[in-house]
Amino acid sequence: MLNTLSEELRFKYVEGKNIGMKPTVYVTRRIPEIGIKLLEEYCEVRYRDEVPSPPREELLKAVEDVDAIFCTLNERIDKELIDRAKRLRVVGTMSVGFDHIDLEYATSKGIYVVYTPGVLTETVADHAWALLLAAARRVVEADNMIRSGEWTIPWAPTMMLGHDVYGKVLGIIGLGRIGYAVAKRAKGFNMRVLYYDVVRREQAEKELGVEYASMERILKESDFVSIHVPLTPETRGLIGEKELKMMKKTAVLVNTARGPVVDQKALAKALEEGWIAAAGLDVFEKEPIDPDDPLLKLKNVVLTPHIASASHDTRNKMAELTAQGIIKVLKGERPDNLCNPDVLKVRPLDQVKII
Ligand code: GLV
Repeated sequence: MLNTLSEELRFKYVEGKNIGMKPTVYVTRRIPEIGIKLLEEYCEVRYRDEVPSPPREELLKAVEDVDAIFCTLNERIDKELIDRAKRLRVVGTMSVGFDHIDLEYATSKGIYVVYTPGVLTETVADHAWALLLAAARRVVEADNMIRSGEWTIPWAPTMMLGHDVYGKVLGIIGLGRIGYAVAKRAKGFNMRVLYYDVVRREQAEKELGVEYASMERILKESDFVSIHVPLTPETRGLIGEKELKMMKKTAVLVNTARGPVVDQKALAKALEEGWIAAAGLDVFEKEPIDPDDPLLKLKNVVLTPHIASASHDTRNKMAELTAQGIIKVLKGERPDNLCNPDVLKVRPLDQVKII
């Protein structure tokens, strides 16, 4: 927990326009209350209490004179924004992904970036499994069948056949925290787990009995493939037509990472033409997805609107951790959830401290 600061300390710092005032933090959109409450203990909070992200121009204007930004993955924190935010010391993003932030540029400008690793791991892993099971056993399609009045025969030997999960092969692309948590759950389903990562995870191999494999082997041998890599220039379009064609015709693809890791057009074609059996997707190349996207016409894909971390507890923890990270930086303390540790060399913490 954060220490409570005395009023005296809180008002003592001297920094540019901030003399005698609390640091200012701009919160880009509505977040769980716990985050706001925490920030209010130490900062002047400019809270944009609205569900959608601010329009770009509004965002650029709003950051001009703030010490900190509390944002989400939907606001682009790029060079243009950083250059506008002349007083900015810290960006807190309520997300584990940080592909929306120009980390290199922020670091070069001495801006600290904090994020939310760890607190959403299990919740996202649960959701990956929800999609996997729903896609394999046609849960959504079956639900729709009942609702639309198409369930006219009580039990039929060949009706709504799906794919078994128990005892099958699960391929995990990216064995970070979330990939690990997904692999761990596979034990209960008696699955053989293959994984690919840029680095070999020998500890995980020992702990979970997972097997390191090439991408090609994963695609060719897995009954289920679940993606858990960050979006980087290297992972953009990682799963395209060639990769989808390597997969089993009975395979199910799950993506809870970032939409652009999969070529969405190729995936729609793969699902329509039966190169793979089904998919479960929480993320898309464009969010919200276009209403005329070909995926929406397909029955063999389960879609959720980027909600893998959306449980009450986890979203509270994410807001809390983001706020804590921001406050720690402003207090000149190193937060555990620092995303760009190289920034410590550019602008040491005692030069950032204003609380
Ligand atoms: C969600 O996608 C996140 O990055 O936290």
